[in-house]
Amino acid sequence: MDSFIGSHVFHALTSADYDCIGTTRRAEKAEGKVLHLDLMDEASWAGLRAAKPDSAIAFFAISKLDQCEADPASHEINASRIPALLASLSEGGCRPVFLSTNSIFGGERPLCNEDEPVAPLIAYSRQKYEAELRIQELLGASSHAIVRITRTISAELPPFDGWLRCLREGASIEAFEDFIFAPMTLPFVTSGLLKIALSAEDGLFHLSGIDVSYYDLACEIALQLGRSAETVIRTNSVTKGVSLRFRPSYSALGMRRTTALLGLEPLSTAAAASHLITFTASSQ
Ligand SMILES: NC(=O)c1ccc[n+]([C@@H]2O[C@H](COP(=O)([O-])OP(=O)(O)OC[C@H]3O[C@@H](n4cnc5c(N)ncnc54)[C@H](OP(=O)(O)O)[C@@H]3O)[C@@H](O)[C@H]2O)c1
Repeated sequence: MDSFIGSHVFHALTSADYDCIGTTRRAEKAEGKVLHLDLMDEASWAGLRAAKPDSAIAFFAISKLDQCEADPASHEINASRIPALLASLSEGGCRPVFLSTNSIFGGERPLCNEDEPVAPLIAYSRQKYEAELRIQELLGASSHAIVRITRTISAELPPFDGWLRCLREGASIEAFEDFIFAPMTLPFVTSGLLKIALSAEDGLFHLSGIDVSYYDLACEIALQLGRSAETVIRTNSVTKGVSLRFRPSYSALGMRRTTALLGLEPLSTAAAASHLITFTASSQ
């Protein structure tokens, strides 16, 4: 429950009266419905196994791209320990849900669907894909889901926090026109993951936003706040001297199977902007 997405999901489900257990690797934070669990210490998995959850969503990861390239421990956690924990929970009758990433498709083909071939280019994506294969191998026909997701954003994360503050104050902002992503918001991801976790459908699922540049998302937010699109100034990574380890041409996923089985559709850019605005407005 210390992860960015996992902590939101835990609090949202607990507030909605779901019987929900969280885990933390920080022993001093374990209390009540939050159990101590360190992936590197197998003995610490016993508490969660004993709780016999019906389903378990794995938010664990070493998710920093540079750390995955440089630190061999990232492979151990991402590709080995997480599949082993999920297999161990599955033996107790739990339905595990593993979170994977759109980056396993490499970013050069638009709207890859659940059954399309992957092309992982960086260590993080290779580790995530290896974990998918290991989970399929270990769990076989036992109930489980693998969910590839695109970037999740929130009004508390940079640069969105600064955009919202400046636009509300009437100031202008700069946004990259050469960064493409497919933003989803925490409420959208939470409801999608809950639907997948509670469903009887197994296998591969995709949750996605729509491909958009930072600049175009910033313009959408400005317009929804009643500001002119001219308050958003175009910039780009070359001008700003910013380089990224992974810069896809396409980020959004096709959701053909997920839509057909569960009725879940991609989050529109307008809805992503609206969620960001509503979240900050309601928390002020
Ligand atoms: N956020 C996105 O936009 C996005 C996009 C695509 C896929 N995903 C995937 O979705 C999942 C959730 O993403 P996120 O952004 O919420 O991840 P995150 O904030 O990086 O959280 C990862 C969590 O894993 C925990 N962890 C690492 N090593 C551990 C260990 N040895 N034992 C127990 N816990 C350990 C971390 O604990 P500490 O807090 O103690 O370090 C952290 O809470 C991840 O699998 C990620 O790869 C996320």
